[in-house]
Amino acid sequence: MVDIEDYKGREQSYVKHVLLEQYLEALVHKTASVYPHIVYVDGFAGPWQSSNEQFEDTSFGIALRALRRAKASWKAAGRDVTMSAILVEKTPAAFQQLLTLQPKFPDINVIPEKGDFISLIPTILATIPARAFAFFLLDPKGWRIPLKALQPILARDNSEVLFNFMFEFINRAASIDDPAVVAGLNELLPFGDWRTRLSTAQTSDERKAILIDAFTQCLSTGNYKHICETTILRPDKDRALYSLFYGTRHDVGLEVFRDCQVRALEAQAATRATAKVDSAERKTGQTELFGSLHEMSANEATAFLDAERKKARDALVALAPASSSPILYKDLWPQVLVRHVVRRPDVNKLAAELRKEDVLKFPDWEPKKRVPQPEYKVYRSD
Ligand SMILES: C[S@@+](CC[C@H](N)C(=O)[O-])C[C@H]1O[C@@H](n2cnc3c(N)ncnc32)[C@H](O)[C@@H]1O
Repeated sequence: MVDIEDYKGREQSYVKHVLLEQYLEALVHKTASVYPHIVYVDGFAGPWQSSNEQFEDTSFGIALRALRRAKASWKAAGRDVTMSAILVEKTPAAFQQLLTLQPKFPDINVIPEKGDFISLIPTILATIPARAFAFFLLDPKGWRIPLKALQPILARDNSEVLFNFMFEFINRAASIDDPAVVAGLNELLPFGDWRTRLSTAQTSDERKAILIDAFTQCLSTGNYKHICETTILRPDKDRALYSLFYGTRHDVGLEVFRDCQVRALEAQAATRATAKVDSAERKTGQTELFGSLHEMSANEATAFLDAERKKARDALVALAPASSSPILYKDLWPQVLVRHVVRRPDVNKLAAELRKEDVLKFPDWEPKKRVPQPEYKVYRSD
């Protein structure tokens, strides 16, 4: 398990790593039941600011342990799955550390690649067998990524992506006229009319929504069925620092990701509480602030999740069609999950409540069923 003690002063990485750890654990285990080979690709691997000798506080360290656990548990069940990790790093000193990994993980094929990730894309794709499932983590330090060059990665079937979009820097860069900055940002966000929309934005929330929407649109060129964004806040301020974009071609991927995200959010509330307390303590020396700030942040998380559940309820009603054109419930719940930070069981419960209140109709609902089944037809009451 990732340990908060390894993340002093970079609590936002802790939140990212909690989400990564929980999601990879579930993803690798699930996909290994179907695919004979799982490949984790870390495009910008580091290590970066690691303070743990076993690299337990790095993305590749987290991934290697998830691959190892899934391999062992399938092996115990009589199934042999090949696990590989392609780790790309351009800085020589960091790359040297990647070279020390193979002896520590003899059960995994560790493939360190030295150089610029974008230039190495053809080599990387050629290394991944067609029958393998691949997970791409793209976590660059900056934002100068030409999105069109990523197309072969985004287009690969049997793949998912997690992209760290450096929101705070990108938002700032979007107000800069320097031609090099303008050109760089246009390469990151090559599609859509986001610049025109930004010029009319009134509030920081509107700017954020426009940029998130623009990058979602750009990633959609990879034919992902679902793309969702997770905001990571500055640990000591209520401001977005970066946005993790997750793309998947499967409903179940979305379901598992949201589940992990809700748990990561709870971790985020706890770490932000700690960071706020640390800086408040430094300023005032009042340790009694501890309790109240902790409480405040726990409430913050609860309030956010409550608000998301309310929005999910409204979305269920708004997205359900009229009685003349019912859809199947299995096509409704993913539309809600992609828009809101809720878990599928919560959406199921909301759907059951809305049925009781006669807002939604489920003509196929069977006696004794507490939540809707995937094949049930659903529509809005007239
Ligand atoms: C933010 S750090 C990665 C952190 C890591 N994902 C984690 O969570 O532990 C980004 C890394 O990418 C490397 N890097 C930057 N540009 C690169 C490029 N074009 N190709 C490959 N690596 C690059 C940097 O040297 C740095 O080590």
